Amino acid sequence: MGDLPADEFRRLLHEVADWVADYREGIEGRRVVPEGGPGEIAAALPAAPPEAAEPMDEILRDFDRVVMPGIVHWGHPNFLGYFATTTTAPGILGEMLAAALNVSAMTWQTSPAATELEAVVLNWVRQMLGLPAEFQGVVYDTASVAVIHALAAAREELGLDVRREGLAGRASVPALTLYASDQAHSSLEKAAITLGVGEANVRRVASDDEYRMSVGALRRAVETDVRAGHRPLAVVATVGTTSATSVDPVEEIAGVCREHGLWLHVDAAYGGAMALLEEGRHVMRGVELADSVVFNPHKWLYVPLDFSTLYVRRPEALRRVFSLVPEYLRGDAERAGDAVPNYMDYGIQLGRRFRALKAWFVIRAFGREGLTARVRESCRLARLVAEWVEADGRFELLAPVVMGVVCFRARLPPGGDVSDEGLDELNERLLARVNATGAVYLTHTRLRGRLALRIAVGNVLTRERNLTHAWELVRLQLSALLSSEGAAR
Ligand SMILES: Cc1ncc(COP(=O)(O)O)c(C=O)c1O
Repeated sequence: MGDLPADEFRRLLHEVADWVADYREGIEGRRVVPEGGPGEIAAALPAAPPEAAEPMDEILRDFDRVVMPGIVHWGHPNFLGYFATTTTAPGILGEMLAAALNVSAMTWQTSPAATELEAVVLNWVRQMLGLPAEFQGVVYDTASVAVIHALAAAREELGLDVRREGLAGRASVPALTLYASDQAHSSLEKAAITLGVGEANVRRVASDDEYRMSVGALRRAVETDVRAGHRPLAVVATVGTTSATSVDPVEEIAGVCREHGLWLHVDAAYGGAMALLEEGRHVMRGVELADSVVFNPHKWLYVPLDFSTLYVRRPEALRRVFSLVPEYLRGDAERAGDAVPNYMDYGIQLGRRFRALKAWFVIRAFGREGLTARVRESCRLARLVAEWVEADGRFELLAPVVMGVVCFRARLPPGGDVSDEGLDELNERLLARVNATGAVYLTHTRLRGRLALRIAVGNVLTRERNLTHAWELVRLQLSALLSSEGAAR
């Protein structure tokens, strides 16, 4: 009965603390991705739960023996896939302490410090984003969940009383439509699925040569839907798209939203960090005109997964949808008064992790200056990689480099002129070869139908030498690939 004995817990904590420090210190010596195939880890574990208690020392041994070989080391300085990880030491420390406290930030009463720290951190991040004070924030796990909340508020603002009446069986409710560029993140479709809007009612608007939403195409799409008797609901503009980090013309999009009474949600999940840079702030032009804005400090503000911030201009719109106080929490809710929020009123979740602690650690440990310098360094390194790509005639950039991501492809085909399909195949094989080395990890995307390789810089452990090494490896693997194909012919 009870917990582990206190002295054993203390000993194990020290051991785990050393493990964590060793892991961070020695991470560069590891393969970035594991070698095993699907099912291997599960096969090494018993299918049924243990009947008898097992010693923690043995469990930790199995963690090293069975679990670690199946880990992709997102914190590795040569992990350059997706949006690079932003784990940092202060963030890890904050996570550890939050786990020890295990409080729930659902009402102020359930842990005043958790709620108040969340409000303080949200206010700090809001200032860093350059959003006006009327925007109030709330922390969720991810941007995918944030956009569902923002669009639920937008839907309620239509006056259809969906909160009470639902959507099913209501012939009087027109089809609701959503708009985003063909580069926007797929979380919008997930939101449409969740909110009863339907995937088919998401309009993907064409983007221009630099992957920015075409405002003319947006206007035409909205007008077509209005003529068809649909009810346009919201536009999602992106600052820092998933593939190429392009930036939609938010100010002009806000104009269309104003004309047609649409909610404007800005997805700055990744790109919001650019607001820290004097030379990068322009990407946020017009964001202050939005009804809601999401930014993920877990993508580019050095806070470990998960930590996503949603800012809404009219917090009462969010509260109107989600405030629902069960009897057993009524006293709690009232005690908070008007001075502090009960965050359970602003979302689906009741129990909420104390996520603000790790963000508070990170922001204080690095300071605004340190955060800015790190974001700036990622941008510098990405531009440097872009220069290397451009300097090598066998490669080409596939998108302008505006943030910490470089999209490129090998364009030298074996034996001359090759179609885009041929180049796609070549680049797919190149990516597979590079990643199979285990020394670096890159991912891919598609831009205008062409397969692009991506290098994403954001990890504080990633230095210029890591990128030099990664780029050398890409070049070597291309040479090896071309010579092996030449030999095969
Ligand atoms: C632009 C953009 N928005 C939203 C998301 C979804 O983020 P999350 O994983 O926090 O749901 C992503 C994910 O990469 C993204 O790139």
